[in-house]
Order: sequence, then C-alpha cells, then structure tokens
Amino acid sequence: MSHLPRILTVGAEVALLPAAVRKFPTKIFRSNVSNINCQLRLQNRPKGLLAPGDLQLIESPVPEIRDGQALARVKYLSIDPTMRLWMAADTYLPAVGVGEVMRAIGFAEIVESRHPDYKKGDRLTGLTGLQEYVILDESAKRSFQKVPKIPFVPDTVFLGVLGVNGLTAFFGMEIAQPKKGDTLVVSAAAGATGSIVGQIGKIHGCRVVGIAGSDDKCAWIAKDLGFDAAINYKHPDWKEKLATATPKGIDIDFENVGGDIMQTVLGRMNLHGRVVLCGLISGYTKGDPGMASFATVLVKRLRVQGFIILDYASRFMEAATQLGHWKMFGKLKDRETIVEGLEKAPDAINMLFTGGNTGKLIVKL
Ligand SMILES: NC(=O)c1ccc[n+]([C@@H]2O[C@H](COP(=O)([O-])OP(=O)(O)OC[C@H]3O[C@@H](n4cnc5c(N)ncnc54)[C@H](OP(=O)(O)O)[C@@H]3O)[C@@H](O)[C@H]2O)c1
Repeated sequence: MSHLPRILTVGAEVALLPAAVRKFPTKIFRSNVSNINCQLRLQNRPKGLLAPGDLQLIESPVPEIRDGQALARVKYLSIDPTMRLWMAADTYLPAVGVGEVMRAIGFAEIVESRHPDYKKGDRLTGLTGLQEYVILDESAKRSFQKVPKIPFVPDTVFLGVLGVNGLTAFFGMEIAQPKKGDTLVVSAAAGATGSIVGQIGKIHGCRVVGIAGSDDKCAWIAKDLGFDAAINYKHPDWKEKLATATPKGIDIDFENVGGDIMQTVLGRMNLHGRVVLCGLISGYTKGDPGMASFATVLVKRLRVQGFIILDYASRFMEAATQLGHWKMFGKLKDRETIVEGLEKAPDAINMLFTGGNTGKLIVKL
C-alpha cells in the first residue's frame, strides 16, 4: 500500500449536479484497502461560507504506533464557529496551514496503545482534527483529557454541556457577575453556548431574554428552557420586541453575535452594565470583527470583557463538576443537532453561519 495520501473520488451523482447546487461530497467511497484514515485537510482559505474544495477529503494510511504512542478512533467531532477563524488567519491560535488536517475538537476512543498513560477503551476529548484516527504521543497530555463512562449519559455531552460550550457559558457567566433580578440578554440563544448561558442566568435569578433566528428556536428556549422571553431577530419588529421584553433595560449582554444585534442590545444597556464578549459570529465569514460602536460603551460606562475559554483550563474540572451537577438535577437541558459522516463536516460548519443547528452541532463518524 502506498503511504502517500489519496484524494477521494467525488460520487458521480454529485459531479453531475449543476454547479450552483453542487455540494460537498455526499458519501465517502471507501476503497477495499483496510486501515485507511479519512481526513479533511485545508485546501484553500475560504472566502465567505466554505466552498466545495476548501476542505479536501484525503485517504491516508493509519500510521503504525511506536513505543510511547497510542492510536484513537474518533467517534464524534465538535463543530465550532472558531474553526472558520482558524481557517482564515492567525488568531488566539495559529491558523491551520494549507495542506494540514483541519483542527477540530473531537471525542475518541483508544483502539491500540504503547503509551503508559493510555489503554485500549480509554475515552478522551481533545484536538483530534477532522479525521477518523489520531495518534497520541508524549504531547497528548496538553491537548487531550480522559473522560469517564457515565451510565445513561451520551458521550456527546463531553463536547457540549460538559465540553467547550458548557465551560464557555460557565466562565462567561462568572465574568458577567449576575445578580438576582438582573436582566440578561444572550444572542445566538438557541445555540450550544447561548442555550446554557440563559439557563445559568435563570439559576442565578436573572430575567433572561434570548435572541435567536427562528420561531422554533424561540419556542424551545422560552417553553423548554425557561427563558423569560425569546426574540426572533429575523422579524422586522424585533427591536421593538426586545424593548418590550427588557422594560428595565439590560444589565448583562452575553454577546455571541456582534454587528447590528450587539449594537441594538448595547443601546438598551443600563449604566455600568457588563458586556461579556464571547463571540462575534456575524463577522466570521465576512473578514469583519462585527464589533459594535465603542461610543455606546463609553457613554454608558459599560464594562466589556472579552475572554477565550483556554484561559480557564486549570479550572475545567471545577466547572464540569458544577455543570454535571446542574444537569443531573434537571437544571440544564440540552439539545444536539447530529450530522452523520466526516464528508459532511464542511456542510456542518456552514450550518453554524446559516442557523441550521439548534443546540450543539456534532458530526458523528
Ligand atoms: N470565547 C470563547 O472561548 C468561545 C468559546 C466557544 C464559543 N464561542 C463563541 O460563542 C458563539 C456561539 O458559539 P457556539 O459554538 O455555541 O455556536 P452555536 O451558537 O451553536 O451556533 C451558531 C449560531 O449562531 C447564530 N448565527 C450565525 N450567524 C449569525 C448572524 N449573522 N446573526 C445572528 N446570529 C447568527 C445561528 O443561530 P440563529 O439561527 O439564531 O441565527 C447559529 O446557529 C460564537 O460566536 C463562538 O465564536 C466563544
């Protein structure tokens, strides 16, 4: 077997579609060769949404492990908006190099080990990349964390509520310093992070208002998650509805979106309010940070704090314990949007920017 990677064939039915509707490969056509590692490698830095070919599906042989290494099979991939930033330029992490396996967080299980710290069957989350198999070596301790098998708890919670989104919501809400009776507004409220933020706000006794992009999403967060109000920002009168839902102004903006939504929310902030700058997704496909005007920040004497979840790594266990406790006692509910197949990961990434997901977006391999 050649050790050179092989580009997978795109199915004939896909190639025959007119260019305008042609999508990413819809199926992996596996060769008969065993021990193949399918990978998605960055081929072009995308402009706007991902286009076919920006991520290329490659077959590589599954490498043989040496002493001090373990091989893990990736079962689930966490699809996160920051992946689009990693494709474009250096940010808080260096950009993924063209030709490299696309960086991604995943859930994996050890299938073979010559590493003293890992045994077959161990389960981990960490930077697996968009691929089927990943090698763990001496540097794995920094980028992987073992997770337990908990009866009746699906593995995917370690990518959502007990993973990056739960942790982000937890530490972001710590920055927000919520007090009973505060009005908290969260954008991308039916997403993986926003849906947990709002529920933590309720645990702290806040009035919680969520902003989301469909009536179904609004119904979920208001009826099932207990938000006090939910505003569909795609309705023309959403700004008036936001004003009605926040009669005492806004004390905390948990900002996930930026742009017009952030500008409108800042306009209703109370003096000395707190803005937790978690993400600015409306700008990620536009090469524009989507930042609202600082004039409002100044005039309203707001405290704005940005954060990156990696800064809190030393406290992840403490946060996961609290999140797990809330989940066990029914105070945190979650939902997942699961897309099947590595080859669908590019479509899945785009769903984040078109609102195709409710709750945590995951690719199942
Ligand atoms: N600071 C950190 O360490 C950290 C860590 C994790 C995530 N984040 C940030 O948190 C935010 C949410 O991430 P997530 O992983 O939880 O994703 P998510 O909310 O599950 O998915 C993204 C959602 O954003 C909404 N959206 C996309 N484009 C939009 C636009 N132009 N205007 C308004 N809404 C838009 C869509 O929902 P609608 O249907 O409602 O439009 C989409 O479903 C992102 O900004 C992300 O970068 C930051």
